[in-house]
Amino acid sequence: MTMQDFANTTAVITGGASGIGLGLAHRLGREGARVVIADIEEDALDKAVAGLEAAGVDTLGVRTNVGKQADITGLADAVEERFGAVHFLHNNAGVCTTGLAEEQTDAQWDWVLDVNLRSVIWGCREFLPRMKAHGEPAHILNTASMAGMSGGPLMAAYFTTKFAVVGLSESLWHEAQAEESNVGISVLCPGFVRTGIARSDRNQPDGLGGWVAAGSQSGAQFGELLSAGVDAGIEPSEVADVIVEAVAAGKLWIFTHPGFDAAILNRARRIVDGEVPDAREMTR
Ligand SMILES: NC(=O)c1ccc[n+]([C@@H]2O[C@H](COP(=O)([O-])OP(=O)(O)OC[C@H]3O[C@@H](n4cnc5c(N)ncnc54)[C@H](O)[C@@H]3O)[C@@H](O)[C@H]2O)c1
Repeated sequence: MTMQDFANTTAVITGGASGIGLGLAHRLGREGARVVIADIEEDALDKAVAGLEAAGVDTLGVRTNVGKQADITGLADAVEERFGAVHFLHNNAGVCTTGLAEEQTDAQWDWVLDVNLRSVIWGCREFLPRMKAHGEPAHILNTASMAGMSGGPLMAAYFTTKFAVVGLSESLWHEAQAEESNVGISVLCPGFVRTGIARSDRNQPDGLGGWVAAGSQSGAQFGELLSAGVDAGIEPSEVADVIVEAVAAGKLWIFTHPGFDAAILNRARRIVDGEVPDAREMTR
């Protein structure tokens, strides 16, 4: 069963107060959805709710730390209390750190693993049974990245979580197919999008010391490159347009930058040919 349109549906977006999540919230609102945005950043959340309401969207903002399982359960309960059945969940909140893998502390690793990966596991485990129980067409979209399609240096925690989100989503897709489920599954793999992702440390728990590993010169340089890439990226509204079309088409993998097709193909070819990765693949 494919979710064909968003009119009269309830859509939940984590990390919905800015960037890709907020772009999708506005697009889904225009499609006629009731929109719930869940975010840790209170000021941004209030502003985003006000903006959506001003645009005529029936909106609920729920302050949520997706790195805490209890918050995700609280989110699901709050949404059901206000709007009833949930039809669309976008596990979108994400953060990143830079530096050599061994320079990143346990606390930095845990932060990225919790926000980017465990939150997705918890989100699926909390919402999927509720979506199956109501039986109407529904969909879960998990955000990975092109960093979930091809590895690279200096963001090991980020790559680790994004590869894992791709694997988790593929598992869920196979399970849904086998069950002929009413809940479709997709995984979003964007290239650079102009958002606040390179300022992730604005949402760090106290004491983590920023998004660049302490004293990491290569991490600091890479952080600057990453910020420049993000600033030159496509707009969140363009990602939202791709998502709406891809969900209706029932696509599992959703890509926003067709230019990376060659990188995916070359990586697969290098794997089966027994070659080593091409370090320039994702930066061409
Ligand atoms: N921007 C890019 O170039 C790009 C590329 C590929 C993938 N992504 C992914 O897209 C997703 C959205 O990021 P974005 O680029 O829009 O960045 P963003 O920083 O603009 O948005 C991320 C949102 O997540 C929220 N957030 C952070 N920690 C949270 C937590 N613990 N609980 C709840 N909310 C939290 C932030 O407050 C923010 O509103 C992320 O998963 C990111 O990894 C981004």
